[in-house]
Amino acid sequence: MPSGRFITFEGGEGSGKSTQARLLAEALRSRGIDGTLTREPGGSPFAEQVRNLILDPATAPHSPLSEALLFYAARADHIEKVIRPALVAGRWVISDRFSDSTRVYQVEAGGLPLDVFKAFELIVVKLTYPDLTFILDIPAEVGLSRATTRRLAQALSGEDAYEKREIDYHMRLREGFLAVAKAEPHRCHVLDGTAPQEQIAAEVMAQVERRLMLPGQR
Ligand SMILES: Nc1ncnc2c1ncn2[C@@H]1O[C@H](COP(=O)(O)OP(=O)(O)OP(=O)(O)O)[C@@H](O)[C@H]1O
Ligand SMILES: [Mg+2]
Repeated sequence: MPSGRFITFEGGEGSGKSTQARLLAEALRSRGIDGTLTREPGGSPFAEQVRNLILDPATAPHSPLSEALLFYAARADHIEKVIRPALVAGRWVISDRFSDSTRVYQVEAGGLPLDVFKAFELIVVKLTYPDLTFILDIPAEVGLSRATTRRLAQALSGEDAYEKREIDYHMRLREGFLAVAKAEPHRCHVLDGTAPQEQIAAEVMAQVERRLMLPGQR
């Protein structure tokens, strides 16, 4: 059985996932806990190639089924090459997005049957399930405008395949993430993504301490 801890950050576009994943990795490091910071789609060389395919706006839109098949091809490699080896070695793994994003983007907002998602989870993820998931909750328009500002600031090219979708789709994403949190309160903790970064980071660390570090937790 793995001895490390697996933590994921989830939420819509521009909600602060990458920021908080990085801040948590830094906070853990300052406490002497060596974490592996990774992301989805991607996280391993093969999965990063798949990421480029999925996010390429030139070939969008794809069906939720074809997207899910690609996501699980990438996820299988990411788990096998990066996540499980780290957990088995006792390292903590922090992933910027994971399976909840597939559930919300492809199932809740995209219309892929839930049974198909569950079958993929059983085949690919099996026991490599997160110990703790943070869901960054933010109004869709605030997140999208942050993502646009960041892209312009970093002089990145245009919107990716998901950022391009209608605001209604992004509103369904927000509802979808909140539904996941409600269904699995023992694993999920919802954060107010509109709060200041440092305040969110402090809440993240407090939850990690309470849920994963106190004696008697696992
Ligand atoms: N709590 C916050 N308050 C205000 N701005 C924030 C906050 N957290 C992050 N930001 C800013 O919002 C932008 C998006 O943040 P970040 O990249 O962490 O989000 P993300 O969820 O990873 O986005 P994406 O879905 O595009 O990957 C960045 O410019 C970041 O500096
Ligand atoms: Mg990000």
